[in-house]
Order: sequence, then C-alpha cells, then structure tokens
Amino acid sequence: MARLYQNPKGTKDVLPEEQQYWKHIETTMQRVAELYGYEKLTLPIFEETALFRRGVGEGTDIVEKEMYTFSDKGGSSMTLRPEFTAGVVRAYLQNGMASRTRPVKLWSAGPVFRYERPQAGRYRQFTQFNVEAIGELDPALDFEIMSAAWHLYDALGFRKLNFQINSIGCPLCRPGYLRKLKDYYRGRLSGICDDCRTRIEKNPLRLLDCKNASCRPVIETAPSIGDCLCAECGDHFRTLRGYLDSLSRPYTVNPRLVRGLDYYTKTVFEVWAEGIGAQNAVCGGGRYDGLIELLGGPPTPAVGFAAGIERMVLTLQAHEISVPPIPSPKVYFVCLDDTARAEAVSLISRVRLAGVEAVMGFGGRSLKAQLREADRKGIPLAVILGSDEIRSQKAQVKHMQSGTQDMVPLSELPAFLTARTG
Ligand code: HAM
Repeated sequence: MARLYQNPKGTKDVLPEEQQYWKHIETTMQRVAELYGYEKLTLPIFEETALFRRGVGEGTDIVEKEMYTFSDKGGSSMTLRPEFTAGVVRAYLQNGMASRTRPVKLWSAGPVFRYERPQAGRYRQFTQFNVEAIGELDPALDFEIMSAAWHLYDALGFRKLNFQINSIGCPLCRPGYLRKLKDYYRGRLSGICDDCRTRIEKNPLRLLDCKNASCRPVIETAPSIGDCLCAECGDHFRTLRGYLDSLSRPYTVNPRLVRGLDYYTKTVFEVWAEGIGAQNAVCGGGRYDGLIELLGGPPTPAVGFAAGIERMVLTLQAHEISVPPIPSPKVYFVCLDDTARAEAVSLISRVRLAGVEAVMGFGGRSLKAQLREADRKGIPLAVILGSDEIRSQKAQVKHMQSGTQDMVPLSELPAFLTARTG
C-alpha cells in the first residue's frame, strides 16, 4: 500500500471549519486598509536571495538561519519571502512609484516562510497582513500606521491587547548607544549566554531581546536607548507619544523592544495578545528610513507593520469571539430517478443564478438517504423531484425542521426559494 503523506513540519492545513475566522479577518483587514487609504499590492512569493540578505540584514536570525533558499534551474539563488517589506520596497523602486504623491500607501497579504522551531502560534509557513507607507517622515504617519493596527484589532473585538513601543534611534545616535551597550556587556561576559557573547560584536541591539533566563538580570540594568536619542529622534518619539496620549490609546514604552530585522530606525512597536501562549506578538512594525536607499533608491523615509493572521485566528478563538458564519447551502435537491436528475441539473443552476445556495443529491440513493444527508448538513429546505413531479411540472418543497410541505410549480421555484431563504 502506498504510504500516506504528512504536511511539512511547521505548516498548517486550514480546514473548512476554521475558514470563517480567516474570511472574517481577511474582510476586516481589507476594510481597514480601505478606510485608511491604502492600495493593494500583490507581489511574487519568491525574490532574489540578495534582496532579503541586504534588506532584512546579514546578521539577523531570519537571514542567517531561517530562509528557504534554493537555486532555480537557471542557477539563480531565490528565496521564499520571509517577510514583505523588502519586496514592497523592490516593487516601489522598480515600478517608479517614487513619482506618485507621497506617502505611497500600500497593503499586501499572503504566505511568508521562515525555517523556525515550530510551536503553538509559530509556523514555518504563516500568513501576514502587511501595510507600508513610503515617503514621509511625519510622526503623524507612524501614528496612522499604529492606528490602523489598533482599528483592525478593535474591529475584530480583541480585548486585553498590549501595545509596546520604543524608539531605536537612527544612524546618527544609535552608534553611540551601541558603544555604551557593548561596554556594559563586555564587563559582564561571565553572566551572559554564549549567543549573547557573539551578539556583542555581531548584532548588539539584539542583546536586549535574548530570551535566555541567565541574561535577564543583565538586560534589566542595561543602558536604555531612550537616554541616547539625538534631538530629531527624541522629538519624533515625543510627538508620536503626544498623538497616542491625546487619543487615550494605552501603550507601554518598552526600552528593550528592538525587533528582529535590521532596517528599523526611530519608532518600533509590537502588539501582544493575551491567552495565545508564548508567541503572543500579533503584529510588529516600525519606521525604516534607511531601507529604500539601502536597496538602491533615493533617501526616503517609510513606516509599516505586519500582522500574523494565524495568531489573529488564535486570538479570536482564545477570546471566544464569534464570527459571521460562511453561507451554507439553503436548499437540497432530492432526485428520485434519472429523469428527475436531468431536470434538477437545469433547475438548480437557475436557483443558484438567483443567488440561493443549493446542492443536489448524486448517484442513485433513496429518498430517505438523501433527506438524511440534507438533515445532517442542516439544510433547511429540500426540493423533492421524481417522475410524477416532472410530469405535473410541480415539486414538493419540504421544510426540514417542521416537516411541512408546499407544492410549487417548477417555473416559480427560483422565486419561491429566494423568498423563503432571503
Ligand atoms: P515580524 O515581527 O517579523 O515583522 O512579523 C510580523 C508578524 O508576523 C508578527 O508579529 C507575528 O504576528 C507574525 N509572525 C512572525 N513570525 C511568525 C511565525 N513563525 N509564525 C506565525 N506568525 C508569525 C515583519 O515581518 C516586518 N516585515 C513587519 C514590518 C512591515 N515592518 C515594517 N513594515
């Protein structure tokens, strides 16, 4: 016997029972994007590997350990996108979008791939809703981006969300901070994990993000970047916080929030949800004022975020939020013989054209078996068609719950069913 295959580790089959959550999230996020004036951008799922190496950063876990990279048949190195931002910037530059009115506001959604250690809420293929606003340094745009995330979660009915924000400075002020941080860590080498010992030289900002218990006390007393921001970064952060305060949006300034991608400057933020386990970041983002230039464009500020759809589904379920059901069949056509089936195939297509969800019985099953199927599927109406009905051009319409029946002329069936299911 042939062996049964399994889905690859870290991937997920989304079965029909879960689709209502996905549909609800997809419609809500699309609506939020429209409300804020973001236009949809669809991108390839794979790009040249060099784009991510340069864009996301050589020293990041994503580039070092997590990319799905392969040589195509022409010998070019390609990578399944581990995030959207680098691809959005590539498309922005390649398609001359810099000449559009700024900021250029774009949203995308789709699968993203990272070879991570799978656990609850952490997959190797997951789905992001991604929003970017390119071409504007105004902190009001940072606020708009954060508001869009907020709006999405409000609209989904999430409660108990924790908004974490920080500023990680710019190429002017960050080097000074990193020097301070490195000096601090060099004096504490015995108290930190092996990974952090290499991070000191390779990616010092990520020292603040170490999950190792032994490093926690060292992180607690580490110098804070907030004390080292230059005047421009300090002003930017203060203005953003002013906007957040004026709208009474609760948030926490977290001086340890540094994010795992190298392109960030100034504002970074994450939203954490309760009740979904350790992988609780439902979205993350920030400003990346240097990335467009790094990828060959003119100096251009930008800000954005991405939200993981799987974690939003987990949050809806954990918070027991009910979502609109996906429309299910309202009418079942029972066919008692071949003549009836021939009539049913044309009748059912008229009924569907009238906008009524309808299914029919296939094969030569008995009246009882077909009605049982309709009942099991919770279909409220059954149209019973046999040779008598075809002869008289009238069908019995059975109301499954009450058991009552109506005789309806076949020509009036679409209108009758529309009225009864409307
Ligand atoms: P990120 O924080 O790496 O940021 O990912 C954004 C979101 O994707 C996370 O908050 C989480 O909801 C979801 N996510 C990340 N990894 C996984 C995983 N392994 N399994 C399930 N969900 C996951 C970025 O990707 C940036 N490109 C965001 C951005 C856009 N910054 C500026 N613009």
